[in-house]
Amino acid sequence: MLQHKHLLGLEGYPSEDIQTIIDTAFGFRKVLERPIKKVPSLQGKTVVNLFFEMSTRTRISFELAQKRMSADTVSFSAASSSLNKGESFKDTVQNIEAMKIDAVILRHPASGAPLHLTKFVDAVVINAGDGTHEHPTQAILDMMSLQEQFNNLEGLKVGIIGDISHSRVALSNIFGLTTMGADVMICGPSTLIPPHIEKLGVKVSYDMDEVIDWADAVNILRIQLERMGTGLYPSIREYRELFGLSVERIKRHSKDLVVMHPGPMNRGTEIDSAVADSDRAIILDQVLNGVASRMAILYLLLGGKTEEN
Ligand code: CP
Repeated sequence: MLQHKHLLGLEGYPSEDIQTIIDTAFGFRKVLERPIKKVPSLQGKTVVNLFFEMSTRTRISFELAQKRMSADTVSFSAASSSLNKGESFKDTVQNIEAMKIDAVILRHPASGAPLHLTKFVDAVVINAGDGTHEHPTQAILDMMSLQEQFNNLEGLKVGIIGDISHSRVALSNIFGLTTMGADVMICGPSTLIPPHIEKLGVKVSYDMDEVIDWADAVNILRIQLERMGTGLYPSIREYRELFGLSVERIKRHSKDLVVMHPGPMNRGTEIDSAVADSDRAIILDQVLNGVASRMAILYLLLGGKTEEN
């Protein structure tokens, strides 16, 4: 039903497939609003969640999506595995696949790990975030949330503000949104914006007020302290001053602005609590749409059954 067997990233991913996933996700969103939130779509399918890096939202979201669709699931944690006894990544995964699984959801600190995995397993591989490369399911849920707000992604102006250099969310959103015809402006400290990023078809600004003036929606990213060395910006206080989304800053611009954040949030740094908890923030809608999006992706990649067949 989709043109690619795996979902590794949104670079070069067909627009019609992105739209099919989003449209299917809106169908599954209705399931999540029912009193009994379960369908038999993936009965008989086995999915393994391989998380080699911390996660709250993505992991729970995938696990819930699998349970809501009646799949059999196993979740693997690197800390309690035989990797600690010297077993390689390849041996670990091949042993798991030998147990007859249909799909692997992989989060890994190394960029390219999901692509590498496709070379030695037959199962469908879905990237749940690889290093500083891509986080395609996050971008799909972000685009679904934008479509829910604005009905259409074509011509929509989306600002992505924060640590662009270390953000797989930024890269997948850039690929996805530009493919869907949205305009993207990125913004952050010059030390956290990759050189030549304009070649991906985005505008660049170092002035957050310019982005807010221009945008219909902003996606606020956190500072990824765990991925960077020191010295890329002077202090948290200065970062907040220049790139933090505060009520005072929004008040300077008399406009409706939709605010997104993929989580986890650093309240008081890139976003103030008063903004994160306000009506203009759709952060928890993104989380709910994450479950629906992952249900749609699993359904479309695993050839799931509808309630009719
Ligand atoms: N948005 C996101 O990927 O969050 P987690 O790291 O908690 O999964």
